[in-house]
Amino acid sequence: MLNKEHWELKHKNSEGKYNQVTDFARFCYYNFMKKKGKLLDLCSGKGADAIFFHNKGFKVTALDYSPEAIKQFNATQKRYDIFIASLVKDISETLPFEENAFDYCYIRLGLHYFTDDELRMIIPEMLRVIKPGGLLFCQVKSTSDKDFGHGKMLEKDMYEDETGYIRHFFSKDYADDVLEGFHIILNEERKIPSGSAYLEIVAEKK
Ligand SMILES: C[S@@+](CC[C@H](N)C(=O)[O-])C[C@H]1O[C@@H](n2cnc3c(N)ncnc32)[C@H](O)[C@@H]1O
Repeated sequence: MLNKEHWELKHKNSEGKYNQVTDFARFCYYNFMKKKGKLLDLCSGKGADAIFFHNKGFKVTALDYSPEAIKQFNATQKRYDIFIASLVKDISETLPFEENAFDYCYIRLGLHYFTDDELRMIIPEMLRVIKPGGLLFCQVKSTSDKDFGHGKMLEKDMYEDETGYIRHFFSKDYADDVLEGFHIILNEERKIPSGSAYLEIVAEKK
């Protein structure tokens, strides 16, 4: 798992940035979220996507382990006079929600910081809080990414670069395997000109 101090510093040093809704949030909303409902945004960062979903009529709960990210998110909420429940919480711990609590669980660039063992604890916990028939949306770095294979190998497809930044790069087969318990609706790679490559996954709780 990635050191929390890493993100505290990153969020502090980027105050005022990363506050635009992402293409992935729009993609999920326009293609898959036909019905309004309760949405859990995990590793929500400064909350730009959470605010987008809120403005589209979803009841959003946002969660991140960085107090700084949540502080900036809450300041944005205050500025625009909106209220979205936000929590400082580590997703490698039990999620503080009842089972079947959410229609949607959204996690953009949050799941690729964990070892295989950690993911096999975190994913069943996400499955627990999603309603049957509910959807998981997930974007992670893929094994086609330009940074794949760089730095110290921690375990299969997981590397730590010289700054201490850790990422577990997902292949399509790995995503299918680790998301057992979900019915995979979409598992597609997206490459962008910078050399970054992502897996975009939509999965339904059976
Ligand atoms: C690349 S950012 C993505 C933020 C946001 N989802 C977005 O798309 O802009 C990764 C986020 O994951 C959070 N994070 C990393 N590990 C976490 C953990 N174990 N529990 C909760 N949040 C975590 C970081 O604080 C950071 O805000």
